[in-house]
Amino acid sequence: GAQPIVLAVESSCDETAMAVIAGDGRILANVVATQIDFHARFGGVVPEIASRKHTEAVVGVFEEAMAQAGEALGTAPLQATDLAAVGVTQGPGLVGALVVGVAFSKGLAAMAGIGLVGVNHLEGHLYANLFETPDLEPPFVASLVSGGHTMLVHVRDWGDYEVLGQTIDDAVGEAFDKVAKALGLGYPGGPVISKLAAEGDPRAIAFPRALLHSHDYRFSLSGLKTAVITYIEAENRAGRPIDMPDLAASFQAAVIDVQVSKALTAVEACSLDDFCVGGGVAANPALRSAYAEKLGERGVRVTVPPLSACTDNAAMIALVALRDVQAGRLAELSMDAEPNWSL
Ligand code: KG4
Ligand code: ZN
Repeated sequence: GAQPIVLAVESSCDETAMAVIAGDGRILANVVATQIDFHARFGGVVPEIASRKHTEAVVGVFEEAMAQAGEALGTAPLQATDLAAVGVTQGPGLVGALVVGVAFSKGLAAMAGIGLVGVNHLEGHLYANLFETPDLEPPFVASLVSGGHTMLVHVRDWGDYEVLGQTIDDAVGEAFDKVAKALGLGYPGGPVISKLAAEGDPRAIAFPRALLHSHDYRFSLSGLKTAVITYIEAENRAGRPIDMPDLAASFQAAVIDVQVSKALTAVEACSLDDFCVGGGVAANPALRSAYAEKLGERGVRVTVPPLSACTDNAAMIALVALRDVQAGRLAELSMDAEPNWSL
């Protein structure tokens, strides 16, 4: 048909993911091969391992995605020449991880004679909100909270972003991961800490709310992480058992208070009534309901992506890639990974 079919490839961190999108925006395939088990025992993502695992997984994930897309269309598995283009996460991310997806995509584009598109991973996390609210239209304020980023963004238009402020040290997801590591809870920290926190008292331990009253959109998480670790060590020295749910809930509350307060300031300063969230930490249930409650009571419409679209996936990359294909914004075959690409 006349509708372009686009393959999207995501390999910026520890998920090898591919999705296929039809010209009308329908997701025909969505495959995620996670490497989490290979990184868990190290308490975080090991870049060298990530790169090698992407290399191992990339062909199998491709075949699975092309088969799924064929099934969705009621045909045989798609061939590369059925695609109009391949869109790949070009950055930001781990360079050795990104280059696997980029090299694969360039090879596919060259071999099949199809278009190539370079997608910004952070823009993908923003677009994931369209799976929840298809009519979401700029301008709005967005929070991006992941393992590598913590920022508030004024989305003036799709593709036109003003970063209002970001973390000056650790990312929110990184803080969850480091606290979990200190508690011996493995990697990633977010899911396990949020589960514990659901059973705990968020007022049990008073942890610092860094930069809460700084009158800007900067964030700082490393002091909070250190405060939690210092607390754990002091309790251990005193021979007192640690109430894990209370600790998790109190840490999480300190994070959420600052996130919600600055988000509220941002939507009011920009005079906007739409707000959305992207990145792995957007899967946090307490953060989602705090946004809904505190921004909702000020008349702000809050969108959060479906849970499966919060953490890294290629469906969100496919939305951005399709936009660029339809606008004729293609990349050169000489393009390369951009590990420090900003929004
Ligand atoms: O977006 P993502 O998959 O990868 C990056 O681009 O970084 O985000 C992963 C991060 C990890 O730090 C993980 O601990 C965090 O998202 N995360 C969560 C939750 N689920 C994942 N953090 C808090 N609560 C959660 N439920
Ligand atoms: Zn991400």
